[in-house]
Amino acid sequence: MNLLLAGSFDEAERAEWALALRAALPGHCLLLSRDEAPAASIAAAIVANPPPGALQGLPALRLIQSLWAGVDRLLADSTLPPGVPVARMVDPAMNAAMAETALWATLALHRGFFTYQCQQRAGLWLPHAQRRADELPVLLLGGGQMGGTAAARLAALGYPVTVWRRQSGASGTPGVQVVAGDTALREALARTRVLINLLPLTPDTRGLIDARLLAALPRGAGLVNLARGAHVIDTDLLAALDSGHLGHAVLDVFHTEPLPAGHRYWLHPQVTVLPHAAAATDARSAAAVVARNIAALAAGAPLANLVARDAGY
Ligand code: GLV
Repeated sequence: MNLLLAGSFDEAERAEWALALRAALPGHCLLLSRDEAPAASIAAAIVANPPPGALQGLPALRLIQSLWAGVDRLLADSTLPPGVPVARMVDPAMNAAMAETALWATLALHRGFFTYQCQQRAGLWLPHAQRRADELPVLLLGGGQMGGTAAARLAALGYPVTVWRRQSGASGTPGVQVVAGDTALREALARTRVLINLLPLTPDTRGLIDARLLAALPRGAGLVNLARGAHVIDTDLLAALDSGHLGHAVLDVFHTEPLPAGHRYWLHPQVTVLPHAAAATDARSAAAVVARNIAALAAGAPLANLVARDAGY
């Protein structure tokens, strides 16, 4: 089967993906450019946010497999061939990496480690009262694979964890409560000390983290945004930080990436900036995930991790 690799890669990334995918897909031909074979021979595209239009004019395309977990940029391309199934990346190694970042940020907020970092720069020796994990309710927005993995690991450390997702139901994980709907969100926010965002970006979730939502948190709470910058209204977040209502924000994602020089987040004492590094796709494990879906395509078997295009994830 002819498979097209398309993405906004630099040369080193393209070479790393080509190596991992070719090793995982013996018997298939991975094309690094459309010029390498007739358009009508390409059965599947393996993509990492390809430039808009990159998948137009491929009449035999039967699968678009994303190497990214979030498909918001991919689906925003109005030329994406309609009717071709889109699969997102669901990779246990990526889920684990995301959970590690959520754990690190929660521990640092809980134990005041960001504050101690600032105090060090000021030459200030000042220990603060130590709270227990069971005194620090954590709310996760998003109960997908990443949210679920992070929730289980946070609960194992003793944090009372609530997961807000589209549908309520049993979490299946001791110490993790699952809630849904606006009222439950407001109630959960009112007792939250650490709010972690792992939602997909859809028309429903864009701008969700605004002044109203932040005001529903208790004073001094922390925000950890590991999903997409567009979930947040930046001016509202900065106002909540400046007023002291929000204690600290850990931000991995931004409206514009890289975060522009001179943006207030860079030097804000209550903001920790990460360069969209919370959970990179791991080429080795992701290539195996891709290979399983390509094998299913070849066998006419059901495809995994399909996106509901109208829902946006
Ligand atoms: C990273 O942000 C991804 O969506 O894979």
